[in-house]
Amino acid sequence: MAFLDTAQSIYHKFSAEPARNRYFYLLIAPIIYIAAYICIYIPIRFLYRISLHPLASIPGPKSQLISDTAQRYYWWYQAENGNFSNILEQWHQKYGPIFRFSGNEVHIKDIDNFNQLYKIGTKWPKSKFFYDHPWTGESMIAEMDTNISTLRRTAYHPYFSRQSVRKLHTLIEAKIDRFLDRLSQFEKSDSVVNISRGFSCLTCDIITTYSFDACTDSIDHPTFSPRHLIALEETSGTTGYHLLFPSVLHGSVWLFKNVLGFSAAKKLSSSIADILEFEDLCADAALKQKRRWLATGGEATSMFTPVFEDDIKKGRKAATDEQLRQDSLLIVMAGMETTSQALSITFFNLIRYPDVMELLLKEIKTIMPEISSRPTQDQLDQLPLLRACFKESIRCNPPLKSPMSRDTPAPGTEFFGYKIPTGTRIMHTMKLFHTDPAVFPDPQKWDPYRWLAPGANVKELDNNLLSFSRGSRACIGSDLAWAEASFTIAKLLRRFEISYSDDFRAERMESVGTMVITLRGSLTVKLKERAG
Ligand code: HEM
Repeated sequence: MAFLDTAQSIYHKFSAEPARNRYFYLLIAPIIYIAAYICIYIPIRFLYRISLHPLASIPGPKSQLISDTAQRYYWWYQAENGNFSNILEQWHQKYGPIFRFSGNEVHIKDIDNFNQLYKIGTKWPKSKFFYDHPWTGESMIAEMDTNISTLRRTAYHPYFSRQSVRKLHTLIEAKIDRFLDRLSQFEKSDSVVNISRGFSCLTCDIITTYSFDACTDSIDHPTFSPRHLIALEETSGTTGYHLLFPSVLHGSVWLFKNVLGFSAAKKLSSSIADILEFEDLCADAALKQKRRWLATGGEATSMFTPVFEDDIKKGRKAATDEQLRQDSLLIVMAGMETTSQALSITFFNLIRYPDVMELLLKEIKTIMPEISSRPTQDQLDQLPLLRACFKESIRCNPPLKSPMSRDTPAPGTEFFGYKIPTGTRIMHTMKLFHTDPAVFPDPQKWDPYRWLAPGANVKELDNNLLSFSRGSRACIGSDLAWAEASFTIAKLLRRFEISYSDDFRAERMESVGTMVITLRGSLTVKLKERAG
């Protein structure tokens, strides 16, 4: 009440002022506020951060501690130009295995430390800040509570387990066969193929058919450019905006969805409208499954059935409709570009290193003597060079670009002799482990033989390969990704000779982006059907 009285008396005093004074105050107040923020608050906070803050003794570049917004902008800019991990690497070389990344964040490069924080049953929760995205903030990937996230993940796990994925080979092969027939059409008309987009169409059709029993038929698009994929490409640079300006992104999406509506969104930005439409398509498919499940009294089962109702035995609550919408979008998005990019990188390198391509083809022919031979997953699993090529591609281009981050649980801890208080964000960047020359000599080179060389310490290499993350929050789709990739590589290479298109430039395969890895451009190729 006292506050209301004070506010009222300020308001009355303000209203009693002549109009000229009122405009003056209205103009001057924000200027005074901004000046005080810049000249008083920021310097005092900076002094506190470098002297009295509990992380003050941890080394690191002091400039990172001046302004959080400027610091985030700096990282966003560097990431968009592909320099993110290079700068982190330089700072680790200068400051050691741990440095202070910002006011309340430290960055660590130490695989044992990573394994400690990411092990199964870890008490280290994810940092909300990184996952608070309008499209997936309610999905399971953004669930901070480790116990709840485990319950949510286990609901979907039966659909992604190794055994379930093995049963999927008919679906996967049918889509790949259709994809290869489409490639054959390009070949007959002597056209260049944007095969990166082709891979995205393929993975999109597989995951939507599997999740929703409703295919987007992306493979059938004449140039592999359906609207939702182009929109995702066009807006890929915005994946990091929510770290820079969280409220702006939330506000704009809310405005489009609830006030301006779809038609206004379309006029302002056709890409955003296309993404909203795709989001609705995925969400509606999952909600339709729920309606069918309710209508059949629980008879009709699907991937999302386990989350439609409470699981009293396990203590899991039914997903809300919003969680269901976002989980469905997450599964499609997480399953699409990641695998498709791994395929682009693999073929980019196979064409670049024809000797490897030749040996891989020889290996594939051992289980596919004819172009029409139908390999099994077990047979593909037994091809060492095939597995090594895939691993090497996801080592060079791990799809998660930003650091992964965990919050220090109570009562705090100690790392490398420094006290780490509760709530400190601990960040690790997988690319740094993947390019550590002590583990992966000549790390920038795509070299599948490093996994196969006699005497290679594969256990250590695997320990440092974090593309699917690790522990209780690791990727649930890794087996599906391998199944899609192994069938596609084997069948495509067995059927077609493949070369770069005349206008292709290797720079297009450089990875850029803040959150999720994006390639600068697409892999474009020419194809020729093999005679036999
Ligand atoms: C090469 C392919 C793939 C790579 C490298 C990859 C990588 C990852 C990584 C690093 C994470 C952890 C992200 C984080 O904690 O922030 C993750 C999570 C996830 N991935 Fe994948 N992924 C791939 C393919 C797939 C596929 C095919 C699916 C299938 C739908 C999938 C579904 C998911 C889901 C649902 C999550 C969230 C798990 C959770 O909430 O705990 N991913 N993936």
